[in-house]
Formats: sequence, structure tokens, C-alpha cells
Amino acid sequence: MIYLPSRIFFGANALQNAEAYLIRLGTKPLIVTGKNSAKLSGALDELIPVLKKNNADCAIFDRVQENPSWDTVREGAKFLKDSQCDYLIAIGGGSPLDAAKAMALITANNLIEEDKITPDKFSHTFPLAAIPTTAGTGSEVTQYSVLTDASTGIKAGLGTDLAFPKLAICDPRYTLSLNNTITLYTAIDALSHLLEGIFSNKRQPLLYPLIQAGIDAIMKNLEIALNSPSNIQARTNLMQAALYGGITIAQTGTTLQHSLGYPLTTHFGIPHGLSNGIVLKQVIELYYPYLKPELNNLFLSLNITRKDFEEWLEKFPLKVELELSDEFIESQIPIVLASHNMANNPLTVTAEDIRKIYKNLK
Ligand SMILES: [Fe+2]
Repeated sequence: MIYLPSRIFFGANALQNAEAYLIRLGTKPLIVTGKNSAKLSGALDELIPVLKKNNADCAIFDRVQENPSWDTVREGAKFLKDSQCDYLIAIGGGSPLDAAKAMALITANNLIEEDKITPDKFSHTFPLAAIPTTAGTGSEVTQYSVLTDASTGIKAGLGTDLAFPKLAICDPRYTLSLNNTITLYTAIDALSHLLEGIFSNKRQPLLYPLIQAGIDAIMKNLEIALNSPSNIQARTNLMQAALYGGITIAQTGTTLQHSLGYPLTTHFGIPHGLSNGIVLKQVIELYYPYLKPELNNLFLSLNITRKDFEEWLEKFPLKVELELSDEFIESQIPIVLASHNMANNPLTVTAEDIRKIYKNLK
């Protein structure tokens, strides 16, 4: 079963093509973004005239930080309520997109002051248009909002079908200003999503052509984009791969791969894509005996071997100096084991499996 209720516009005219649908989402949008990405990408400069042309007044909330916290979401939700906006346009990487989804949900359902927020408390939401400015997260076509609880340091995903953006407006030109670090880490995030479409026990052969095409695109275009950041064809191919990754995890969920990375992000500030990248090889190692036919078929479809894939991955600076103490590892094992994504693993992952992977990062 595939469920994908987002209307997707892709390419250099994405915003133009989406205009009629965008304007119909409501009367006054709240633009949700981070400090810089909406401006640097050029997306905001193109959006404002579209809204003006349609006489749509708007408000802007630009205080979403990387790895957004529930506190930021609550602040944004209050802003949304006070601004009397009736739909949202999120511009940025995964952080503004995820924050906007949660802001819309908790405002619409009067949960701003609620401590324990769970998806069963949502009955409706505000419409959301998502304009990605990175090629990684796929959040523009997913029902997930990944947020950090600052009081516990736990990063976790909230998933509800209500959170799917109504519109995904994907214009690869908005990724031309990304620096190499963000280009690399976001591509590795997209790669993880695509692979997790195979890793997950919710894998669906119907998605395999997308997964194969996405991984192939990343393997063939990542270096080109890093060497020639203004190469629009490479940027287009990477954005398409990220979109495929989002479509994939919206159906299959993520796995241990993501669960392992969250503590590395919240405690050591390791960017999301990098935290996926540094555990990827070990996750494949752990999963391989349980997924031999699926992974072998994947590599065959890409005309490569597992070794080729791992050698390709080695080309990129995906290492960090990390000394994880035994105490830290033991404190995180129960958190990793309790994360939602663990239901999707192709085997029953044990505390020892997690311990071993974290220890090997030393
Ligand atoms: Fe991710």
C-alpha cells in the first residue's frame, strides 16, 4: 500500500506551476523558516511576489533552528495563533519543514500548552506547503516531524497522516547556494532514506525502482555537485533522489540507522546526515545476513557490488573524532531501543548490537 497525499511540483517552474494550488490553501500564510536558508536559496524572494500578486497578506516566523526543539515549536505555534494565519508555507531544510508540521498540528488542536503530545490528540491541522532548500530530508513528502525535547535531550519523530504537506514545491535552483558540507550531509541523509526503504521490514517492491534510481542518482551526481556546486543537472538529480527518499520512508519508516544517529546529534551536535553516514557501514554489516537477497538485488540493479558501494562511500569525509564513553553508550541504549523506528528493523536488534556499533565509532 502506498499513501502519498502531497501534490508534488518539481523543476525550475515548480513555484509557478504550484501557484494556483498554493493560493487556494487559505487566505493568509505563515511562512516558517530558519534564519538564512529562505533568503539565501532565493525561495523567499520568489514567493513574496507570488503572494503579493494574489493579494495575500502573510506573516513570517524565521526562528527555527537546526534540530528544532519543542520549545521552538510552541513559540511558533503561539505566533501562528496570534498572526491569524490559516495556512503555512515552510521553506528550508528538514528543520523548518518539521517544525511547521508540528506548529500546525498543535495550534489547530489547541495543544500549545499541553505537555505530552501524541498523534492521537490530533483531529485536524492547517494546510502546509513545503519548499525544500536542501536535497536530503524528504520531509516535503512525509508525515513525520522530528523534534528534540530539550529537557531530556531526546530527538524523536512524530508521525501522523495529517502532517503530510498538501504541496511539495521542489525547485533544484534553491539548492545551488548550499555549501559542500551541507550538500554532502544532506545527500547522505537521502541515501540513508533510500537504503532504509530496503532495510525496513515494511519494504515494498513497488518502491524499488524509485530506490534504485535515487541511489544511482546520488552515486553518479554527488561528486559532480561537490566539485561544481552550480551544476544544475547534478543538483536536479540530487533533489530528485531526496524526493524519492522521502516518498520511500513515508511508506517504510526509517530504521536503526536513524535511531543510532539521533543521540549523536543531540549530545554532540553531529549533523543529521553525518550521523547517519558514520554508522551506515556497520548497519549494513548487521543487516546483511537478514537481507542478502534484497541487498544483493539492489547492488545488482545498480551494476555494482557491496564492496563498490562501500568504497564509493569511503571517498567522502564522513568521519568524526568521537570518543563515546561507556557511560554514555549505556545511557543511550535504552533510548535507542525505545525509539519508534526500531519496529522496522529486519531483525530484533539487541542492546549488544547497539553497544558494538557505538564502540566501533571510537
Ligand atoms: Fe533523515
